[in-house]
Amino acid sequence: MTITLHAWTLDDKPALIALCNAVDRTFLSDRLPEPYTEADANWWLGMAAENEGKEGVWRSIWADGNLVGSISVERKDGDENKVGELGYMILTPWWSKGIGTEAVSQICEIATRELGLVQITTMVFEGNRASERVLEKNGFRLEETKTGAVVKGGKAMDVRVYLLV
Ligand SMILES: CC(C)(COP(=O)(O)OP(=O)(O)OC[C@H]1O[C@@H](n2cnc3c(N)ncnc32)[C@H](O)[C@@H]1OP(=O)(O)O)[C@@H](O)C(=O)NCCC(=O)NCCS
Repeated sequence: MTITLHAWTLDDKPALIALCNAVDRTFLSDRLPEPYTEADANWWLGMAAENEGKEGVWRSIWADGNLVGSISVERKDGDENKVGELGYMILTPWWSKGIGTEAVSQICEIATRELGLVQITTMVFEGNRASERVLEKNGFRLEETKTGAVVKGGKAMDVRVYLLV
């Protein structure tokens, strides 16, 4: 399977909307709008285009010619702005084919090169073993567990912070 990352274009808007409305949200932040509308996509695509290569890198994930997910690294404030925060999502029918692992490998290389980062961090909600495996396979290590650090659907959940140096 060929897995590639591409900068988002306006042509991807329908696929972005479909992705965000279909993605399994069990372990995602409530900040992702639901339902995800055309206005949400317009705002997000504009934000990504404006900040690309400066405040972050945002990519669509493609597998054998299909847009199957989204992945990004955004520069965090503080720490001399040398730390980035990783996020990703893949459509359920495409899980467990190695796509997440390969996409994380590629985006970390892009983010390090284009943003001059020295660390990449990400937060995983308790129970998201598949995401932890993706990170482990890319050399991330568990930095800390924050007990009850996030509220999702009215329930306090633990968050595990992973770090790539
Ligand atoms: C997390 C996610 C990106 C993983 O993508 P993926 O393409 O399935 O990942 P890969 O195929 O590269 O690797 C998945 C690994 O997790 C393992 N795995 C999958 N489901 C699992 C489960 N329920 N329990 C334990 N391991 C699991 C797979 O076996 C594989 O590990 P292995 O290579 O050692 O066998 C995908 O599940 C997703 O998009 N989830 C919804 C959004 C999300 O949670 N994003 C991350 C927020 S931190």
